[in-house]
Amino acid sequence: LASTEFDLTKVAEGQQVTIKWRGKPLFVRNRTKAEIAKAVKDDHADMKDPATDASRVKPGKAQWLIVGGNCTHLGCVPTFGGGEYGGWFCPCHGSVYDTSGRIRKGPAPKNLVVPDYAFLSDTKVKIG
Ligand code: FES
Repeated sequence: LASTEFDLTKVAEGQQVTIKWRGKPLFVRNRTKAEIAKAVKDDHADMKDPATDASRVKPGKAQWLIVGGNCTHLGCVPTFGGGEYGGWFCPCHGSVYDTSGRIRKGPAPKNLVVPDYAFLSDTKVKIG
């Protein structure tokens, strides 16, 4: 299946861009230090799909969170900035994801999916 390259200079700190990959949305988020700190602080909180924040990003690149843009409940596209964990909120049935894209509340069973990707340089990633 096709892989795609993405230029990270298009995403300012605190912003995200949604790209289409394999017919589905993918969020490429440039996280602020506060977003990262919030995610790390909750690493050992009680979660449905436990994962550390570090396991969801590449070493030394914690600002870049790349996750599938479909809610793991029934596939709606969550919006950033909603919900009490500072991350994404799914308007369909109220699932709440944190700033690491981990499911924290609501019917979704799993975290937002981290695709296979690699940094080609500091400003370019290859997804897939
Ligand atoms: Fe997101 Fe149901 S599809 S909560």
